[in-house]
Amino acid sequence: MARPLIWLALLCASLTFTTCAGIRLELIHVDAKENRTIAERMRRATERTHRRLASMGGVTAPVHWAGSTQYIAEYLIGDPPQRAEAIIDTGSNLIWTQCSACRPGCFNQNLSYYDPSLSRTVRPVACNDTACALGFETRCTRDRKACGVLTAYGAGAIAGVLGTETFTFGSEKASLAFGCITATELTPGSLNGASGIIGLGRGTLSLVSQLGDTKFSYCLTPYFSDAVNTSHLFVGASADLSGGGAPVTSVPFVKNPNDDLYDTFYFLPLAGITVGEAKLDVPAAAFDLREVAPGRWAGTLIDSGAPFTRLVDVAYQALRAELARQLGDSVVPLPAGVEGFDLCVAVAQGDASKLVPPLVLHFGSGGGASSDLVVPPENYWGPVDEATACMVVFSAARPNATLPMNETTVIGNYMHQNMHLLYDMGNGVLSFQPADCSSV
Ligand SMILES: *[C@@H]1O[C@H](CO)[C@@H](O)[C@H](O)[C@H]1NC(C)=O
Ligand SMILES: *[C@@H]1O[C@H](CO)[C@@H](O)[C@H](O)[C@H]1NC(C)=O
Ligand SMILES: *[C@@H]1O[C@H](CO)[C@@H](O)[C@H](O)[C@H]1NC(C)=O
Ligand SMILES: *[C@@H]1O[C@H](CO)[C@@H](O)[C@H](O)[C@H]1NC(C)=O
Ligand SMILES: *[C@@H]1O[C@H](CO)[C@@H](O)[C@H](O)[C@H]1NC(C)=O
Ligand SMILES: *[C@@H]1O[C@H](CO)[C@@H](O)[C@H](O)[C@H]1NC(C)=O
Repeated sequence: MARPLIWLALLCASLTFTTCAGIRLELIHVDAKENRTIAERMRRATERTHRRLASMGGVTAPVHWAGSTQYIAEYLIGDPPQRAEAIIDTGSNLIWTQCSACRPGCFNQNLSYYDPSLSRTVRPVACNDTACALGFETRCTRDRKACGVLTAYGAGAIAGVLGTETFTFGSEKASLAFGCITATELTPGSLNGASGIIGLGRGTLSLVSQLGDTKFSYCLTPYFSDAVNTSHLFVGASADLSGGGAPVTSVPFVKNPNDDLYDTFYFLPLAGITVGEAKLDVPAAAFDLREVAPGRWAGTLIDSGAPFTRLVDVAYQALRAELARQLGDSVVPLPAGVEGFDLCVAVAQGDASKLVPPLVLHFGSGGGASSDLVVPPENYWGPVDEATACMVVFSAARPNATLPMNETTVIGNYMHQNMHLLYDMGNGVLSFQPADCSSV
């Protein structure tokens, strides 16, 4: 018994990018630091979703706008350690933070900018270093000395140089390649005061890839009913659905088209949707991964960085019509001063859970076994004031949204609340288990 343990210890000490126990990160709601009412938080969250959707136009990529994410992680960077805060984003890869050289062009962040000159452990990555060839986000600078990084998001772009640095997540340390960002052009306020992003996508520069791990999990405490307890992200060995109790459901990831950008995303085989007793009349092909224009792929993906779910328009219209039919006389117009919702009901305390039926997402891969994700009412409806709740699922085809995102279904993090989600790339499956995330 002793021998394998010793082997494990040696292995861990010898691989720069490996942490033995895995990483455990606390996540805090962006809004939890302020004493906002439920209606204010709802309004802010939908503003972020709409900003993200509105900003999808005009950019070359099927871009992902991380500023709308609700969950941030605190970590330490360098030696001696400096504090930093990052948005956790499964829809992008790069780990980055604004560097002190950034000022004055960069956005405001709550903590001081990371200053590499104060750290003993930072190393620049040279142009001819293997690390500079790791991801599609990197390229040699014009003088061919430094390794530059550049990433485009929906509302702009960030640029800087690639370096390696010691990151401390709780009690675990790791040496990671990261972007020291010196130029940003982003919609003001879009990072909500965080200092950067930690990407968890499939790409080589993401946190999970760099750690040499093939799995991570997270469990998000509810947006509105629990602003107190933190959520958790687990990377590597600590990522596990060990909770027992509720049944675990697994869905195979859909193989990505062979392209850098699409290699970032976690695509799923959504096949159909049921609401209450009614299966929506939507062809399964509407959700399939498909090339909608040369080199541009639409499909269904899961994204911790998007607050709310967006359905392809044909499914959205069917869902809205069917729910309106089932809810009948309970449907009310939007309260004055509230915007951006299509379907609302009158309910005490804005609690729709007794009135609205659950939504079931059916996953399957052409003839094989299917698995269901049951979405309880509180994971797709939300309070907008004391007397009204509205549906927080939107159409992908909003004004100004362009291909391929206007035909892509995105399962956003509001649907992940009180659900423990395990992304297991080694086995090619996403597993989920209903959970009380305050105790995970
Ligand atoms: C938050 O605001 C409510 C109502 O404005 C107030 O009753 C409560 O004490 C505040 N809580 C904190 C922690 O400030
Ligand atoms: C759509 O684009 C037009 C022109 O760029 C702009 O004026 C308008 O505000 C945009 N609409 C939305 C909803 O973003
Ligand atoms: C990178 O280039 C420098 C000279 O610019 C050279 O000294 C170094 O050996 C090269 N490193 C690799 C890994 O090729
Ligand atoms: C930054 O501070 C503002 C104002 O207190 C707060 O709303 C926001 O959540 C903070 N952001 C982060 C990332 O801590
Ligand atoms: C926070 O977590 C504790 C322990 O699980 C739980 O008892 C409490 O109800 C949670 N708080 C809220 C506001 O949900
Ligand atoms: C998506 O946008 C393209 C133009 O970029 C447009 O031709 C297409 O009709 C749109 N699709 C939907 C479903 O709105």
